[in-house]
Amino acid sequence: MDGTDHLDRITLPVTTQRLSLRLFTADDLDDMHAYQGLESVARYLYRPPRTRDRCAEVIEKISAPTGWSKDGDELVLAVTRADAPGVIGEVVVKLAGAHAQQVEIGWALHPEHEGRGYATEAARAVASLAFDTLGAHRIFARLDVENTGSAKLCERLGMRREAHLVENDLDGERWGSEYVYAALVHDLER
Ligand SMILES: CC(C)(COP(=O)(O)OP(=O)(O)OC[C@H]1O[C@@H](n2cnc3c(N)ncnc32)[C@H](O)[C@@H]1OP(=O)(O)O)[C@@H](O)C(=O)NCCC(=O)NCCS
Repeated sequence: MDGTDHLDRITLPVTTQRLSLRLFTADDLDDMHAYQGLESVARYLYRPPRTRDRCAEVIEKISAPTGWSKDGDELVLAVTRADAPGVIGEVVVKLAGAHAQQVEIGWALHPEHEGRGYATEAARAVASLAFDTLGAHRIFARLDVENTGSAKLCERLGMRREAHLVENDLDGERWGSEYVYAALVHDLER
């Protein structure tokens, strides 16, 4: 299977009722840093908050995705509102296992835009993209058990909780536990 062709099949932006999903550009640096620089956002992404310089490096990389054929290939899309300027967050699809077409999905939203269903709407769009365009057989998300916002989002999408990994991670002095949520194409609430 030629994975690059799969990316070529995607027409951007992907639009939903209230949102538009597109590639990041260098002009999005301040908007990305506004949420990726926050401790509250980084906490559940298993890494420190991003500096502005780190955001610039990341944007350079993700603004030109190279393909969709091997483990680790990913597509990161900026989430924008149809009714307001700027980037409010991001969604990601990652080819975790090319052989069995296992695709990890993820999201991050600026806290100012929480509580209105934007992350769910964007995640639903990338889940559809994964199945309908990128050839996913199964999508999954891994999240800290304390990340209740993400667990609720997964459940709204129709994903099922498949695993509870108990103290499988050590963050400083704190043991972390994770849930794995997943869906096959017919599980999704479209
Ligand atoms: C996880 C995260 C995206 C959740 O944000 P969120 O605002 O709760 O998610 P949504 O944007 O989908 O909004 C859902 C909320 O809006 C409400 N809502 C309002 N209008 C809605 C609508 N039209 N559709 C759906 N939900 C709506 C829902 O009831 C829900 O509120 P509740 O949690 O009180 O029930 C956000 O907290 C975040 O970015 N966290 C940091 C990064 C992170 O954890 N990433 C995931 C790592 S695995």
